[in-house]
Amino acid sequence: MDKLKNTSNFMKTINGIHSSKTPIWLMRQAGRYLPEYREVRKEAGSFLNLCMNPKLSAEVTLQPLKRFDLDAAIIFSDILTIPMACNRDLKFVENEGPKLKPIENERDIFELELTSINYLEPIYECLSLVKSQLESDKALIGFAGAPFTIAAYMIEGKGSKNFPKCVSFFQNYEKTFMKLIKKLEYYISNHLINQIEAGAEAIQIFESHAEIALKENKFKKYCIDPNSNIIKKIKKKYPTIPIIGFPRNAGNLYVDYVSTTNIDCLSIDQNVNIKELLDNLKKKKVRNLCLQGNLSPEILLKGGKEMVYSAYNILENFSSVRHIFNLGHGVIKETPTKNIEELIKIIRKWKK
Ligand code: CP3
Repeated sequence: MDKLKNTSNFMKTINGIHSSKTPIWLMRQAGRYLPEYREVRKEAGSFLNLCMNPKLSAEVTLQPLKRFDLDAAIIFSDILTIPMACNRDLKFVENEGPKLKPIENERDIFELELTSINYLEPIYECLSLVKSQLESDKALIGFAGAPFTIAAYMIEGKGSKNFPKCVSFFQNYEKTFMKLIKKLEYYISNHLINQIEAGAEAIQIFESHAEIALKENKFKKYCIDPNSNIIKKIKKKYPTIPIIGFPRNAGNLYVDYVSTTNIDCLSIDQNVNIKELLDNLKKKKVRNLCLQGNLSPEILLKGGKEMVYSAYNILENFSSVRHIFNLGHGVIKETPTKNIEELIKIIRKWKK
């Protein structure tokens, strides 16, 4: 335990030490709601240029920590850098979101190769730069998308609510679909291991579109098992690196995800009933799991009394377990910075 003496409250909490102080960071804490982000984004010319410029992406990673009293930095990057490095012609179109050359058939998957590994090098450089500038009481988080979520974008060729092309692909060609999942599993594990070697102290895996697999009764095959394989591969090399899993909107199946994957921390969306989740974890004999979340980004956007009430409610509900305060999804771009200041004040005043 001595080795944890000088680490951040975030690392202590995720590593199993109960603290009376709840750490806080926010998904998408660096982004368009910050005027200083918009400045640097303009200078970079585009979102992808910004992601691939280590100096500028390090600056943007640190911006929210300069403005707010947060406990962790998350590297400024994107889950779609992996398809980008596989030459899928990734573009971010203003007001439309990501666009890629869609995967159409088995041949596209067979030919898929992370040929442009150098493309990902700037991300590791960014991590080293941030690490060298980060105070010792702040943690550095690396991340990647999970195979199913990345595959959904790669097949659809864009973002979507229901990913109909992807659903019809896996319904008709499941074997081929699993080949894509397997390939991504390999690329993602390596990408995460590289991030650890560049300075990431913890890792978050974003399975943002778990719901699509869940609706088709494929949550175990498409999400739980591939996430598990990635976690196993990382833990084999770096057994003490804490991993946060985020199979968003998994509802009652969050517990299945936890009991199979062996993750250190579960991040949950805003629709989860915390008491029910804690009960279900007990029933499955999952003990001493660290939880992260789950304030609604819409409530943070509105601020005011509802936000204060909601924040206290979450703190109360999680008071018996290790908890990292966060949102149920990313910060919305219209969010006033004063709401975040007010939220952090509440978290700092709170004692378990
Ligand atoms: O949390 C953080 O601060 C770290 C940075 C981060 C970004 N994307 C930056 C970003 C992280 C962790 C992500 C993950 C990501 N990217 C996910 C998983 C989490 C989630 O939101 O569900 C997904 C699905 C993506 C893919 C993606 N990237 C989408 C759908 C978009 C939105 C496009 C749009 O125009 O709104 C992005 C772009 C993106 N990623 C932005 C940021 C700050 C906005 C880019 C800009 O400056 O225009």
